[in-house]
Amino acid sequence: MGLLKWAKDNMPTLLRPAVLLTMAAYHFIMTILEIVVVERQPFQLRNLQEVRYRSFARLWIRNGADMSAEMPEGLDELLQQCRGIILDVGPGSGELLSRFNPNQINAMYGAEPAAALHPGLIANAKKQGFGDKYRALLCGGEPTSLIPALSKSNILAKSGTGGTAENGVFDEILCLRVLCGVPQPRETLQNLYSLLKPGGRMVVCEHVANPWRSEGKFYSRIAQVVYTVLGWPFFMGGCEMQRHTREYLLDAGRWKTINLRFVDAKAAIPFVVGELVKVDN
Ligand SMILES: C[S@@+](CC[C@H](N)C(=O)[O-])C[C@H]1O[C@@H](n2cnc3c(N)ncnc32)[C@H](O)[C@@H]1O
Repeated sequence: MGLLKWAKDNMPTLLRPAVLLTMAAYHFIMTILEIVVVERQPFQLRNLQEVRYRSFARLWIRNGADMSAEMPEGLDELLQQCRGIILDVGPGSGELLSRFNPNQINAMYGAEPAAALHPGLIANAKKQGFGDKYRALLCGGEPTSLIPALSKSNILAKSGTGGTAENGVFDEILCLRVLCGVPQPRETLQNLYSLLKPGGRMVVCEHVANPWRSEGKFYSRIAQVVYTVLGWPFFMGGCEMQRHTREYLLDAGRWKTINLRFVDAKAAIPFVVGELVKVDN
């Protein structure tokens, strides 16, 4: 009886990643079929990395809206407060843009490496009233990709932003469901920290390794290992379930305010949600 109740209470959260993984594997197969049968360009399969990103973009274009309908508790309040000059790392197709108040935003830059998501991103920015304030950059959040893209777009040297990579450019940087997939998350976060103006804010909503030693559950941590072995990072465009993103954030630089908490801590996909404010100088 005890086991039955445990299964009833926990199976939905433990099996949710299985559903997502099955969907991602389906889109991977469909992407390969598109390339080989429809486009007749089988040699493109040699670039497996590209195929994986394209397949994740395919999944996101078709399901991103549904996967963004319910976001972890507390996020909306944080997004409503966003103002000034903002960098959104990995905005996808802009499914979360409806949650901001564009009137208090001067400029928003979306660093999105998946070209296939840009049309949706630009359309969503227009639909949500960002007008000319939104700029989509074709780059990742890692420094080797982001810094050249910011320089090329004159964002680093722009007088309005007053910034360089050293003294900060952005009032706010958003990391929403993206740090699981950036290469070298520690270095990436240190660089993002340097791009924040003194007193600037980082807003975070990231899924992380289950915090089983504190608020989490060991069986959910094991489930994360199992899903990783079953190919989660491969099919989900490089997304890793087992990152200790909270620690990486805390270590990224000196913060004057740290306000982070776990949401769904017992689940196989627990989130860390909150904000960190950079020291003033
Ligand atoms: C799960 S989606 C989240 C999109 C959006 N932030 C949201 O929460 O609705 C992850 C996004 O990160 C992007 N991404 C993947 N690797 C990235 C990287 N190295 N730098 C920035 N974004 C990346 C993907 O293309 C995808 O759009």
